[in-house]
Amino acid sequence: MIDMPSSKDILIAPSLLSADFACLGEEVRKLEAGRADWLHFDVMDGRFVPNLSVGVPVLKSLRRVTALPIDVHLMIVEPDSLLGAFAKAGADTLTVQVEACTHLHRTLQNIHALGCRAGVSLNPHTPVDCLDYVGDLVDFVLVMTVNPGFGGQSYIDACTKKIAEIRRRMPDVCIEVDGGIKADTVERASAAGANIFVSGSGVFSQPDYGAAIKELRRLAAQARRVP
Ligand code: DX5
Ligand code: ZN
Repeated sequence: MIDMPSSKDILIAPSLLSADFACLGEEVRKLEAGRADWLHFDVMDGRFVPNLSVGVPVLKSLRRVTALPIDVHLMIVEPDSLLGAFAKAGADTLTVQVEACTHLHRTLQNIHALGCRAGVSLNPHTPVDCLDYVGDLVDFVLVMTVNPGFGGQSYIDACTKKIAEIRRRMPDVCIEVDGGIKADTVERASAAGANIFVSGSGVFSQPDYGAAIKELRRLAAQARRVP
């Protein structure tokens, strides 16, 4: 199981959804050279979200070419049936959408039993109360700042106060933020208390991935006054 960072650490996790899948290995090599912390791997099923992306075979191939933690974001219905396959293929974290989990407590236990870190993701409309009775099983909370399903959407500013509310209730938990994170939005998410920053188009639209990652890290640190 990977070590979780402290909630004071800042991590940048580029979302591979915006990568060029025809040369994924090369894209990952550039992200490694650019000092990405985690690789964010978006799984979409055409049911929980109105889009399809990648799944177990791609994860298995990716696992062979990188030692970076692979952060698997499951935007799928009935995730329990696939947790084992994703863990076996090399996932380090497994994040489920709370809206897709009837028995969230059991699902989080299952993720830990598979040797993975457990994330819980909240859609923009989902209140934070859903975390009240599972806090001890949550390694990190993922706050969606777009409606999941597509890269390149605009940050929903109403979610900023949800980040702050989770930080207030759970001072030590890692808070990951996902959706529309780029140079002009990362600071407000960081100031509210997020510490793991997913960025798809914010990294891959730039010519130099390393420079984009460095700038996101700098802006996030500055907003939190972390040296
Ligand atoms: C959206 C995905 C995100 C997406 C982020 O449903 O969960 O991880 O790739 O892309 P950007 O950073 O472009 O909003
Ligand atoms: Zn994601």
